Amino acid sequence: MRIGLIGCGNISATYFKNVPLFKDMEVGACADINHEAAQRAAEQWGVKALSVDELLKDESIDAVVNITIPAAHCEVTCRILEAGKHVYSEKPLGLDMAEGRRIEAAAKAAGKQVCSAPDTYLGGAHQLARAAIDDGAIGRVTSGSCHVMSPGMEMWHPNPDFFFQRGGGPVLDLGPYYISNLVNLLGPVKRLAAMENKAWEERTITSEPRSGEKVKVDVATTLMALLEFASGAKVTLTASWDVWAHRHENMELYGTEGSLYVPDPNFFDGEVVKVGRDGKAATLPAGDHPLYVTNETHEHMGKLANWRAVGLAEMAAAVAAGREPRCSFSRALHILEVMAGILDGAAAGKFVEMETSCERPAPLGTEEAAALFKEKPVPGNERSHKDE
Ligand SMILES: NC(=O)c1ccc[n+]([C@@H]2O[C@H](COP(=O)([O-])OP(=O)(O)OC[C@H]3O[C@@H](n4cnc5c(N)ncnc54)[C@H](O)[C@@H]3O)[C@@H](O)[C@H]2O)c1
Repeated sequence: MRIGLIGCGNISATYFKNVPLFKDMEVGACADINHEAAQRAAEQWGVKALSVDELLKDESIDAVVNITIPAAHCEVTCRILEAGKHVYSEKPLGLDMAEGRRIEAAAKAAGKQVCSAPDTYLGGAHQLARAAIDDGAIGRVTSGSCHVMSPGMEMWHPNPDFFFQRGGGPVLDLGPYYISNLVNLLGPVKRLAAMENKAWEERTITSEPRSGEKVKVDVATTLMALLEFASGAKVTLTASWDVWAHRHENMELYGTEGSLYVPDPNFFDGEVVKVGRDGKAATLPAGDHPLYVTNETHEHMGKLANWRAVGLAEMAAAVAAGREPRCSFSRALHILEVMAGILDGAAAGKFVEMETSCERPAPLGTEEAAALFKEKPVPGNERSHKDE
């Protein structure tokens, strides 16, 4: 598949770096509403910069990654579909269910795939957690708790405005990682309730180059959700940019036979810890899953596995094989409905029943994951990466 990238901002470098690692894939061209950004990226990564219209008309491009800002996702995804190309959209798929349904209709009309990030749940750690749950390591999961909390985004992202405008907020931005992994581990959500809060009406950017500029906060920046899964499990999710420090784990699942501590689903790796009825904690052996192998060294976070774009590679393999991709549209639409439900439920103070559902994506085992790569990842090849 020849891939076009629309959106040449902060995260595009990861796609430029990672797409060529996968079999039968290369980046053919890039575009951005800000043509200078596309030209800069094209020069850095040795691809051609086109206008968005030119990229959509380019018949050599089979699929387009939509890495624009969330408010532009629906419009850009629909335009890619109308141009007759498959889409891999960064998260969130859209801002609300009306956008999700618009994309659904456009995908049906075009007969093309729409897949959506995150693909981090395909990571070695989360596939290990999935295998543990499927093997009954903690029995039947009855409850759980998830926490993704920090003081915000204005201290690292160079253009943090979109995080605090409609389409931003911690649920649409970080919720996809947590909800995708919960769906991977537990299946679809049946109903939910939520509450919201906002610490500040305005924030001051401290990252460069706009340090000192103010950003107006239009969205709730703390959301607390109760998620009831079709399986019967009930899980809390707190997503906040109003918290300076805390002591909560990212994700804990509690079962009839024990507990499972699952690492941050924003990343592909990390320790998966099981505690049995005897109270003894054991780190599950990582095995040789290629998406567990670390490939980046960050200044503050140390070694990390960052295989973003593997969901795109898996989509390409699924299209070639004529099967449903793992980061499928039905999964993305369900996750969007859960996030929209959290926002709407919090604003209205009401329980929200889900209208959509989805299958759990099939596990991605070691061999199938390795088959997606041109060369199987091996430890010790970490490239240095500035902390994000
Ligand atoms: N930054 C990260 O670490 C990160 C990680 C994972 C996912 N994401 C997701 O990736 C997406 C992009 O994030 P980012 O941090 O790179 O944002 P960014 O603001 O740095 O870059 C977005 C780019 O999209 C372009 N753009 C906006 N609207 C457009 C349109 N209609 N047509 C063409 N180009 C348009 C902008 O000019 C900009 O260059 C977001 O959905 C975000 O949630 C970001």
